[in-house]
Amino acid sequence: MIPIGSSSEKRRLKADNPTTRLETFRRSLLENFQRSLTEDFNGIRDFDDAICALLSVYHNEDLFADIKLYRTRLQRHIRRGLYEIRTSWNRSHDFITYLQEELFAGLDLNPEQPELNAVENTLVDALQEIGVAAEIKEKIQGPRIDRYFLHLPNIQHLDQLKRGLEKLAFRLGLQQEGVFIHATSEPKVVGMDIPRQRQRWKAIDASRLPQWAEQEKGNSRLAVWLGEDVLGNDFSFDLVDAPHLLIAGTTGSGKSVCLHALLLSLLWTQSKDSLQLALIDPKQVELAQYEKIPHLYSKGVVHLITDVMELLDQLVDEMERRNQLLREAGVSNLTEALQQRKLQLPRIVVVIEELADLMMQSRELETPLVRLAQKARSTGIHLILATQRPDSVTFSGLLRTNIPSRIALRVQKNTESRIILDEMGAEQLLGSGDMLVKIPQVSTNAIRVHGAYISQDDIKLCLRNL
Ligand SMILES: Nc1ncnc2c1ncn2[C@@H]1O[C@H](COP(=O)(O)OP(=O)(O)OP(=O)(O)O)[C@@H](O)[C@H]1O
Ligand SMILES: [Mg+2]
Repeated sequence: MIPIGSSSEKRRLKADNPTTRLETFRRSLLENFQRSLTEDFNGIRDFDDAICALLSVYHNEDLFADIKLYRTRLQRHIRRGLYEIRTSWNRSHDFITYLQEELFAGLDLNPEQPELNAVENTLVDALQEIGVAAEIKEKIQGPRIDRYFLHLPNIQHLDQLKRGLEKLAFRLGLQQEGVFIHATSEPKVVGMDIPRQRQRWKAIDASRLPQWAEQEKGNSRLAVWLGEDVLGNDFSFDLVDAPHLLIAGTTGSGKSVCLHALLLSLLWTQSKDSLQLALIDPKQVELAQYEKIPHLYSKGVVHLITDVMELLDQLVDEMERRNQLLREAGVSNLTEALQQRKLQLPRIVVVIEELADLMMQSRELETPLVRLAQKARSTGIHLILATQRPDSVTFSGLLRTNIPSRIALRVQKNTESRIILDEMGAEQLLGSGDMLVKIPQVSTNAIRVHGAYISQDDIKLCLRNL
């Protein structure tokens, strides 16, 4: 191993002046490192060889013999690695432990198992402690949670379980993240979702978005893919069923990433003749990449409040024009008109990246927004509003009643969860794109979804393909 930072070395380094100290340290690191590589890795000369050896073992391929394949594998690992570092870096994993785990994977040295069993054992104890007699019938591992199916012979214990959930979470060492329970189709069996530690999450990325989009292309729907449900099944829905959508959650909870998932789904599946996007981004950051896409309804992404007002007024006029056209065509909505080939109009999706910012600048915005929310759905104009502040100022009563579809990411307080979803729960989500999706047309209950992580590369790839 590399003997960096031994106390005698540290003492010696302290005595030198700062610049030579740094230089000496760097040189000793290099010497030690080279010595450790030749001694410990038996002749492997540099990192490149060590990495090539590691990837050869991992893929069971001789990558020393095929440099092109090595580079392909390497770039894939770097991309995935950078993503993992962002999302689930485990500081306690030193490189040697990591090497051991990787090189001997499959030999039952995997530390995951004992830990999972430990959770299961703690759960059995914790249930007893809150006075619930339950038998674990089955366990399913989802991308981020483990779902336990609990058989409760005494149905009185269900109330006890519901009341004891906070204690249970506390006993399992969970902090704000909660334990969720739900009914199952089996009598006397409840499902219980317990989140795993972050370093044991399965990454959900956008690599299969293009493939998903391939199946959705060409139909007149506005299908969007968000990620996976708690059991790891794809979760997608049709924006036509959720004509207007509110996305809310605290800062850093994953709203912008969720918006990118929605936008990429639409851009992968729709041509500029079937879809136009009106993009409003007061922060001028998140939606900047979409500035040049051919699908834009207005000249560019709109930032200034005066331009936003103008754009919304224009959309209200467009809505009235379309209503007139639909009446003349003798149909009640755009879907019907498209199916019967009576009109050829693109759907328009209006995206507001931070509604609260705009509302603070001008309350007048509410008038055209409410009109669109009330009357635009049949004309194929859809709103997606995102906000960090789901309070009654940003999301007023009139907007609320006309925007019944909601996505709640993690929030600070249960009162915020109530404003978004009309129920509690979002305050116990895991963050990083963990969300509750409530779309009345799709399901009466909120569905928990782990949003896919959309990277800048995913956006670039999609935009290159337009
Ligand atoms: N689905 C996801 N999977 C993994 N990590 C995620 C996911 N969504 C978000 N994150 C992580 O959370 C960070 C913040 O996400 P994002 O920028 O979407 O938050 P936000 O809610 O838009 O925040 P703000 O309100 O400050 O704009 C991301 O940079 C990423 O590291
Ligand atoms: Mg954001």
